[in-house]
Amino acid sequence: MDWKEFYDTRVAELDPDDHLSQVGHTVHGQPIPEDHLLALQAQMAAELQIGHSDRLLDLCCGNGIFTRPLSEQAEAALGVDFSSAMLSVARRDFPGPNLRYEELDVSDIASLSDRPEAPFSRVMMYGAWQHFDLGVGQRILEDVLSISSDDLRIVLGFVPDFDLKHNFFDTPERRAAHEAYVAAGTDAFGNWWKKDELVTIAGDLGLTCEFTDLPAKVHAARYRFNATLVRG
Ligand SMILES: C[S@@+](CC[C@H](N)C(=O)[O-])C[C@H]1O[C@@H](n2cnc3c(N)ncnc32)[C@H](O)[C@@H]1O
Repeated sequence: MDWKEFYDTRVAELDPDDHLSQVGHTVHGQPIPEDHLLALQAQMAAELQIGHSDRLLDLCCGNGIFTRPLSEQAEAALGVDFSSAMLSVARRDFPGPNLRYEELDVSDIASLSDRPEAPFSRVMMYGAWQHFDLGVGQRILEDVLSISSDDLRIVLGFVPDFDLKHNFFDTPERRAAHEAYVAAGTDAFGNWWKKDELVTIAGDLGLTCEFTDLPAKVHAARYRFNATLVRG
């Protein structure tokens, strides 16, 4: 899949104000309710434990719908994404006085060491970890360590759980459609992660790793989790 083209096209085809659909926070094609979004944002705020002196990096920030509210708790924040269409929406609809957006592929984040917001003490990736496999995921986390401070805390949010995949593909029709997409090379879901894989990567990099469930009322709680990785 060419994910950059996928997301640029999706933003171009949607209503400019349909922020939740742009970043795929939908259930059966409908944007999630406002209180579900607020619950997910509150969970990220609690797990990131952002203080006034923290410098936040949001990897794959999309249109900034999570970046903006979380940036309000930080000293400085940087959102990066490789979709120029997403970033146009972010700069227009989710700006902040201490928040900057930059077009960048996460494979290039080691280059962020010279930015004014670096070194980062809080790093998040929400709803995008499925785009990376074990090897790439490990490299991303290595690069995160190289541009971050000793008090680093990372939260990977909304990670698809390999062991709960059956809760997503929960009807024969959905399973058949998924298999057809995979066979055609157009699977828009990405990589389902095993928690053990994250524990192994984190351990190799000297990070602790803990998991939390999403708020129960959220549909995705049936097949996604959050992971918090802490340095030292
Ligand atoms: C499902 S959206 C989630 C956006 C946002 N984090 C949220 O939850 O609202 C996934 C985002 O990941 C970005 N993305 C995927 N692969 C990327 C990469 N290699 N480098 C930078 N951004 C990437 C896409 O452009 C898209 O904006």
